[in-house]
Amino acid sequence: MFITFEGIDGSGKSTLIEMLAAEMKKQKLKFKKLREPGDTPLGESLRTLLASHKSITPVAELALFVAARAQLVQDVIKPSLDKGEHIICDRYTDSTSAYQGYGRGLDKALIRHMNNAATQGIVPDLTCLLDLPVGQAAKRRSANLDRMEREANAFHERVRKGYIALAKAEPKRWLILDSRKKPEENLEVLLKRLKLF
Ligand code: TYD
Repeated sequence: MFITFEGIDGSGKSTLIEMLAAEMKKQKLKFKKLREPGDTPLGESLRTLLASHKSITPVAELALFVAARAQLVQDVIKPSLDKGEHIICDRYTDSTSAYQGYGRGLDKALIRHMNNAATQGIVPDLTCLLDLPVGQAAKRRSANLDRMEREANAFHERVRKGYIALAKAEPKRWLILDSRKKPEENLEVLLKRLKLF
């Protein structure tokens, strides 16, 4: 199983990911917990660059996220899935569609082509969207905001709407969870969908 988590900054992905990982560990399932961008030496360097540079053009930003993804798929995701391990990934292709596509307004077909090249066609079995109103997500963010988190509310609104559109277009792949609910409640729904409960 390849499971990805998506949502705007501060939507509570990390909490649910930790809870799912703990449950999978309890059930003695073999899995890897990954995050994007990151989890390869190149990906971690790109994460640092992306968070720290003040001015990155939208196309440069797109290329850097996709580069991190290409490396992670080739070096970690593909070999792990081939070995029969499960993958839990904090963000994947849909982050690029939502942030660079809906948020920055870049061409969606271009993003699709670049994502396809990076992933070698590897699509998640389930993508979990943690949906939360922008104002509430902003309150949950830590005091040290990175470049993306400092973007205006209108940007995060576009990203949120983008995620909902993506999820509605592919209901078989997506599970939309309301992040205002208790994480335990959302975990139960997720485990049922994954048939782990
Ligand atoms: P996030 O995963 O929320 O990690 P952290 O908890 O360290 O902030 O942050 C990654 C940021 O990168 C987030 O603002 C979304 C953004 N992002 C994109 O814009 N496009 C992408 O393709 C990916 C993977 C992330």
